[in-house]
Amino acid sequence: MQIVKTVAEVREAVRAWRAEGLTVGLVPTMGFLHEGHKSLIVRAVAENDRVVVSDFVNPTQFGPNEDLESYPRDLERDAALCEEAGAALVFNPEPSEMYAPDACTFVDMDALTGELCGKTRPTHFRGVCTVVSKLFNIVTPDAAYFGQKDAQQLAVIRRMVRDLNFGLRVVGCPIVREEDGLAKSSRNTYLSADERQAALCLSRAIFAGQKLVEDGERDAATVTEAMRAIIEAEPLARIDYVKMVDFDNIELIDHIADGQPVLCAIAVYIGKTRLIDNFIVE
Ligand code: PAF
Repeated sequence: MQIVKTVAEVREAVRAWRAEGLTVGLVPTMGFLHEGHKSLIVRAVAENDRVVVSDFVNPTQFGPNEDLESYPRDLERDAALCEEAGAALVFNPEPSEMYAPDACTFVDMDALTGELCGKTRPTHFRGVCTVVSKLFNIVTPDAAYFGQKDAQQLAVIRRMVRDLNFGLRVVGCPIVREEDGLAKSSRNTYLSADERQAALCLSRAIFAGQKLVEDGERDAATVTEAMRAIIEAEPLARIDYVKMVDFDNIELIDHIADGQPVLCAIAVYIGKTRLIDNFIVE
């Protein structure tokens, strides 16, 4: 497995693979990889001849008071996980390799980004769309793999790929959880022992909401209120949002209609750490 720092090296590797007629999968990540990322890489390896993992903490998707500086990084551990999962190349650029000092072109989206995480983090999806477009242009993959844990991001990327005619498949992969239910996240490492315990209110709320819907509840407020009550019972938790939206358009809904793909998403601060989780009603 290669670990490279420059766009030119990625292009060179991809050119050689293409010359052999091989297919290429891309798993975009911000590093500090866990089992959730590994499941994306394993799936990409199963479906493509060669897999590129990008490992880049993208500065443009962090707001001014967010955790860009403290975001955890460990390239050595990431590389070992990528190799074990069967990746062919890890792309770990410096910010200066990805963004010229006078870079002034961004990919922005008029819809899908005004609710949920886009409401709390107004510049976040502009940064995500921009870096993911750049990665698509650098790697030119046949397919790209994203976790359903960032469900709004998945919907946004799908729409961007459609709108900008990127010739690739976007593959959404299921949430991977710890044994006790907490969704895997690089940000879980910020949690103290007490906070780690408190964070279980997210998955408890998700499972309870999912059960209500499975049992036939169709009123969005009834489901989200039941979920809020579970989170509010946890003293270390502060709700950012608990919402139900149409999964295609990320617009709020009152009622779950038959056949409509619905996303029920939550964001909760546990102490200073903001965690997200969700379930999807297909
Ligand atoms: O989901 C992430 O880790 C990031 O938002 C992504 C897609 C790698 C873009 O930086």
